[in-house]
Amino acid sequence: FQFTMGHIEGVSLPSTLCDVWDSICNFQAREDDILIATYPKAGTTWMQEIVDLILQEGDVQKSMRAPIFIKVPFIEIVPPKPMPSGVELAQKMASPRILKTHFPINLVPPSFLEKKVKVVYVARNAKDCMVSYYYFQKMNKILPDPGTWDSYFSAFLAGDVPWGSWFDHVIGWWKAVDKHQILFIFYEDMIKDPMHEIRKVMKFLGKDLSDEVLENIKYRTSFQAMKENPMSNYTTLPKAIFDQTISPFMRKGTVGDWKTHFSVAQNIIFDEEYKWVKVLH
Ligand code: PPS
Repeated sequence: FQFTMGHIEGVSLPSTLCDVWDSICNFQAREDDILIATYPKAGTTWMQEIVDLILQEGDVQKSMRAPIFIKVPFIEIVPPKPMPSGVELAQKMASPRILKTHFPINLVPPSFLEKKVKVVYVARNAKDCMVSYYYFQKMNKILPDPGTWDSYFSAFLAGDVPWGSWFDHVIGWWKAVDKHQILFIFYEDMIKDPMHEIRKVMKFLGKDLSDEVLENIKYRTSFQAMKENPMSNYTTLPKAIFDQTISPFMRKGTVGDWKTHFSVAQNIIFDEEYKWVKVLH
């Protein structure tokens, strides 16, 4: 099985999703939902674990209750049968739910914004997102093959990759910060000072946890701990979906890996496009 791609409002998305667009659009959020919104590869899984551990008040046993993609449904995913869709999983869940989306803000089911659901948005440097996404599309056997690095570079810049343009995504959510309950977090800040960012998320969610609990959450959500944890490293998925012999889901978890992938010329081209979003850094 491999997704063919369709388009919704110019954004490239799996056809299985486009085919049931109405049901996704009509998804009913609940007021106490927490939505984690990201461009793919921006640190979604990391934030999913952090938010779940905060809600579980650092209880590791509870956080190990199920794989991350079950605990935190990816609302718009419509995988091959018999796997349940994100909407099906979410509808069966007790509140408070943590939900994941990769949608740009204009495609998010309106009910999330109407109900003023809290959104944690994670943004990551576009160059590192591109590298991470390239390896992900190689190992993710249900997404289209990314082709050569050079062709992927052009496709990414043109926004012609699943879930569309990095630029539109980050700018769209950034502009909505004042209008909605959105906590905007940067992957690079999480790497630099995880405790500081975890505390921000905790306050945003209205929780008050001790330093000891927060230290434990930091430890449990470190790259190494998550890489070794079968509930967060996606190794419970079959090879026909994620072939981690090609590239592990928990690949490097660093800032600046783009430097070992971009040619000098590619970097110049990229910076030309990127300069107008420097305001974000
Ligand atoms: S997805 O498929 O969109 O949900 O992927 P996502 O989780 O957003 O991104 C995966 C990248 O995040 C890295 N990662 C982490 N980095 C640091 N610390 C922790 N705990 C962590 N967990 C995941 C993961 O390694 C991917 O980045 P790359 O650069 O490919 O290593």
